Amino acid sequence: MEQDKEKEGIENINCQLSIVNCQLNKNVYPIFDKMMGRSDKEQLLGQRSVMVWFTGLSGSGKSTLAIALERELHQRGYLCRILDGDNIRSGINNNLGFSAEDRIENIRRIAEVGKLFIDSGIVTLAAFISPNDYIREMAGTIIGKEDFLEVYVSTPIEECERRDVKGLYAKARRGEIRDFTGVSAPFEAPVHPALTLDTSLLTLEESVQKLLNLIIPKIEIN
Ligand code: ADX
Repeated sequence: MEQDKEKEGIENINCQLSIVNCQLNKNVYPIFDKMMGRSDKEQLLGQRSVMVWFTGLSGSGKSTLAIALERELHQRGYLCRILDGDNIRSGINNNLGFSAEDRIENIRRIAEVGKLFIDSGIVTLAAFISPNDYIREMAGTIIGKEDFLEVYVSTPIEECERRDVKGLYAKARRGEIRDFTGVSAPFEAPVHPALTLDTSLLTLEESVQKLLNLIIPKIEIN
């Protein structure tokens, strides 16, 4: 009950912040405060929403984990949505590349879209390299820190490169792809992730179990 009140308070503050943000933008009149709220949606769905943010190198297993986790949560009656790097980059972000600026814009848009899902009560699973603290901090700030669960998929580059599912590491080593994360562009490991999963040491089932243990207590409504 206490937790619900606190959440509603945060929701109101977020709502007002969005209005202030838009008032800075002349001639824009947002209606956030008139729409049905996140808790209405969460009650309708019988779940609380959260953003599970997978970060790690290409080929580390982010998408595989998100796909397996979505299936497990779905079977338990939770509505989820996966946002994935290659999917988003073939749609809404198909005008962005891999420069530092474009990666920031990529993650900014994804975080804003992710927030829409969170506000609809949907458990959102984001799988993006999101290669540095600045970018992940920005995503956490847009989404709201209390809803942002960072999961570091820490599979070492040697293993990602050995798998090379898409053949991109080989191309990057041959110099055919510029700014490739881990080869010719940096990746900064997160400092305090909620969970770290090395998919070269854990089976998919073991990783998913750890994710379920972390997430279910945060999304279940008794
Ligand atoms: S992010 O750095 O901006 O967060 P994002 O997760 O959206 O990256 O996209 C990563 C995916 O794009 C990789 O899994 C890979 O398939 C593809 N890709 C193509 N070029 C690059 C590159 N230069 N660096 C990293 N990934 C790339």
